[in-house]
Amino acid sequence: MTTTIDSILHEHRLFVPPQAFAAAARIKSRAELAALQHQADQDHEAFWAGLAQQEITWQRPFQSILDSSRAPHYAWFKDGLLNVSYNCLDRHLPERGEKTAIVFEGEQGDVQRLTYAELHREVCRFANTLKRLGITSGDRVVIYLPMIPEAVIAMQACARIGAIHSVVFGGFSADSLRDRIEDAGARMLITADGGHRGGKIVELKAAADKALAKGCPSIESVLVYRRTGHEIAMQDGRDVWWHEAIAKATAQCPPEWVGSEHPLFLLYTSGSTGKPKGIQHSSGGYLLGAITTMKWVFDIRDDDLFWCTADVGWITGHTYVAYGPLAVGATLLMYEGAPTVPDAGRFWDICARHKVSIFYTAPTAIRALMKLGDAFPTAHDLSSLRLLGTVGEPINPEAWMWYHRVIGHERCPIVDTWWQTETGCHMLAPIPGAVATKPGSCTLPLPGIVADVVDEQGNSITMPDQGGHLVIKKPWPSMLRTIWGDDARYVSTYWGKFDGKYYLAGDSARRDADGYFWIMGRADDVIKVSGHRLGTMEIESALVAHPRVAEAAVVGRPHDIKGEAIFAYVVLRGSRPVGGVDEALTRELRDWVGEQIGAIAKPDDIRYADNLPKTRSGKIMRRLLRTLASGQAITQDTSTLENEGILLQLQGKA
Ligand code: WT7
Repeated sequence: MTTTIDSILHEHRLFVPPQAFAAAARIKSRAELAALQHQADQDHEAFWAGLAQQEITWQRPFQSILDSSRAPHYAWFKDGLLNVSYNCLDRHLPERGEKTAIVFEGEQGDVQRLTYAELHREVCRFANTLKRLGITSGDRVVIYLPMIPEAVIAMQACARIGAIHSVVFGGFSADSLRDRIEDAGARMLITADGGHRGGKIVELKAAADKALAKGCPSIESVLVYRRTGHEIAMQDGRDVWWHEAIAKATAQCPPEWVGSEHPLFLLYTSGSTGKPKGIQHSSGGYLLGAITTMKWVFDIRDDDLFWCTADVGWITGHTYVAYGPLAVGATLLMYEGAPTVPDAGRFWDICARHKVSIFYTAPTAIRALMKLGDAFPTAHDLSSLRLLGTVGEPINPEAWMWYHRVIGHERCPIVDTWWQTETGCHMLAPIPGAVATKPGSCTLPLPGIVADVVDEQGNSITMPDQGGHLVIKKPWPSMLRTIWGDDARYVSTYWGKFDGKYYLAGDSARRDADGYFWIMGRADDVIKVSGHRLGTMEIESALVAHPRVAEAAVVGRPHDIKGEAIFAYVVLRGSRPVGGVDEALTRELRDWVGEQIGAIAKPDDIRYADNLPKTRSGKIMRRLLRTLASGQAITQDTSTLENEGILLQLQGKA
């Protein structure tokens, strides 16, 4: 019996760091990186302790580095006292008070700039308001806002007074909002009358009202930011306008010093069961991870304009919008709306007008924009860009090459960053001045991150290109601390498989002969065909490499003879075949995959749709596809689908 996943897709292109980039980078060569790696390997704890002393301003220094007495509930720097908001704002004021902290652009084109001094003032005023409304250290505050500076202000204000925020993505429904408020036991909800997205108003307050009408007894007050100015209902005694509440608040608000392990935030994420997990992050360790990766992976500089397109409702928007860029005193850009308003050139227009130098987005966005053609990016001056990044899912080599060529003009390194809500910050990623990249690989573990690929028994897989479980073998500072209210689930989900020894990421991965990591998809997306285990992502990557294919999702379906058969859902560039049938193309694609990977990976079925079913965060709803592929009735919640109309196409009924 094979216990490893057969890896059958190979990518041989190698892109060395451009000389001009490497010469100016913080880490300039593989040798410099090796020296850092060596320090970390020699003494894992001393390595992280040194960085924690250097990068964080502590109110009281720590003595304890790593406490493993309650493993796997590890504690880092636990007797140290700090405040995350102080580290993001106050400490920059002497040198950077007049420097722009946030450049904001609304979907309708409104632009706003906040200096560090202004942001500090707004955070202090809002923190005082939270206190006046009864919020104290350790209280949970749910934030349900659009992508506007006030989202960052609210998060930073919570951090300032030791309140634990839980940001809920504005695209989530009232029911999801209610579940998260109730699980967290939040006392306050911060929302807005609405936000602008895709030319429409996102009715946040209406959804919030609906959530609160159905439960949420712990909520005492609702703060409402006026963004759109359209009519909404305000409930007397519960709802307060943000601008009225802060009117009398002063800008003096000394930070609340908290222990390093004090929870900074909860962020709910989906697991293999239906109930979302409240991933709990710490203060000191989390902040350290945000800072080190801003410096190592993004090579951030004082004159950079850093744009991470992620919504603050996701971990990427926490670490690389609300905390990381501010902790290092950088200037960040925030955009409220959709990438296609008024047209598919919006991202490139923003990059050109504001002179964005570092651009970080998701493969799904890259592929979507690629599909719309080169004319949009080519119409804009992208010469300010110096570094590109991707996150969230494996990037197929074709999209990587497009990003490299059409957006980066073959001048910008691409950092493909692997990490998770649970890991807090980048784990596997190239250091752009030092590590040569390969399209589709997130390359190597960062210093101080001990990653490995292991088999079912937990043994390291040393043979190149053999897939296995991606694990992290030593605790790291920015790791999750637990699942809110469910320590047992934390232990079983992440530490159960290998008896508490290794953190189980839940992804399958392989390492090539150079030691580069290739993420093959979630371990639960592995399919087994005639005894061969195949990563679904690899088949997808092959499909999208075909000139006619824009996107593809592959799942397994039960098959009498082979165990599982491969079912592919395909979105074409251009229009979908009439009635969803094109036998010639289906044959061509099967042969194409056979050629790219091998006959074993040829999809048994190919079904064409106008779109793939995605959650609002852009993740493909694989469980739904598996249900459809096996011909079963839909049991999943499809209310978060961007386009419910595609269901019939996916079922082969339209
Ligand atoms: C899962 C975590 C971390 C920010 C966004 C997603 C997949 C993430 C990559 C990458 C291949 C990736 C993994 C991981 N993933 N980054 N660079 N290459 N896969 O956070 O929602 O917690 O999802 O996203 O499967 O486990 P998340």
